[in-house]
Amino acid sequence: MRVIVIGGTGHIGTYLVPRLVAAGYEVIVISRQQRAPYQLHGAWKSVQQITVDRAAADQAGSFGQQVRALAPDVVIDLICYTLDSARQLAVALQGQVRHLLHCGTIWVHGHSVQVPTIEDQARRPFGDYGVNKLAIETFLLGEAQRTGFPATVLHPGHIVGPGWMPVNPAANRNRQVWARLARGEEVVLPHLGLETLHHVHADDVAQAFMQALAHWSSAVGESFHVVSPAALTLCGYAEEMAAWFGQPAQLRFAPWEEWQQTATEDERRSTWDHIAHSPNCSIAKAQRLLHYQPRYSSLQAVQEAVAWLIDHDGLLEA
Ligand SMILES: NC(=O)c1ccc[n+]([C@@H]2O[C@H](COP(=O)([O-])OP(=O)(O)OC[C@H]3O[C@@H](n4cnc5c(N)ncnc54)[C@H](OP(=O)(O)O)[C@@H]3O)[C@@H](O)[C@H]2O)c1
Repeated sequence: MRVIVIGGTGHIGTYLVPRLVAAGYEVIVISRQQRAPYQLHGAWKSVQQITVDRAAADQAGSFGQQVRALAPDVVIDLICYTLDSARQLAVALQGQVRHLLHCGTIWVHGHSVQVPTIEDQARRPFGDYGVNKLAIETFLLGEAQRTGFPATVLHPGHIVGPGWMPVNPAANRNRQVWARLARGEEVVLPHLGLETLHHVHADDVAQAFMQALAHWSSAVGESFHVVSPAALTLCGYAEEMAAWFGQPAQLRFAPWEEWQQTATEDERRSTWDHIAHSPNCSIAKAQRLLHYQPRYSSLQAVQEAVAWLIDHDGLLEA
């Protein structure tokens, strides 16, 4: 079977593409070829890489037809962010593919109500990203119900892996937070540090895509959370990571108005976005229907990423 992975050289594709090759798929990756996967793997030698700027092709109205012309059995769309883009691809692939797997986000939920959040809960997204991803999910699963279009939507949490900076216990990507925890220095967290983050290792996201392919009849017309088995509170995350560095956590808590004075604009935005969502999602549905079994807890995933950054990127030298 021929599978096209749209945006297959990033966090998810680095793990997903070798898994697809190992499973015997003929794999075509579409990207702008501006970057390489995070890890080298021999599987890439048998992957056909096609250069397309999806944003430009969407704008020109040609992207769906370009994908269809490649005669895929399966399309895995990792970089779709607007309803127009999703519709264009789905219209082109209607009646042509066995499975379209779309990568969504747990941000479709907005804030949590009853936790852990399950897929069936009413969605209250905020911010363009979550709102647009919900519009895509609603459209694709609606098409599955109305016309039998074989779509599945997978919603990852904060994707973690060796090669890039994980979301830290202050819910942003400030390197200094890691250096301070490692030195046993004070780290200031917003509020009482009881808001949550829900990470997932990129290889577990890849596993979920493979499981959705393998369990086609359970996956079509459905959406699934793809996260680690349990979310983390900010303060629990900070304490565990300080302990991992062999230090006691020196935490101080500050009201938002005070905390944000200590942050750059990017950090402030990131922290607010994460704590306003405070995700805590259930994987019970993916476990039951897809037999998804994440290999990494949130902490294990983050520790692997931080160890990589220490070894390769001087993380603690700042
Ligand atoms: N990162 C997270 O923590 C997170 C959390 C939840 C959900 N998600 C979802 O995960 C998906 C992103 O997956 P990822 O994190 O694996 O992506 P990523 O690491 O950002 O990689 C993006 C991939 O898409 C390609 N690409 C980017 N712009 C392109 C364009 N205009 N035309 C063609 N190719 C393009 C990139 O290669 P080139 O640059 O070479 O083109 C690369 O292959 C999104 O749907 C996002 O909503 C991510």
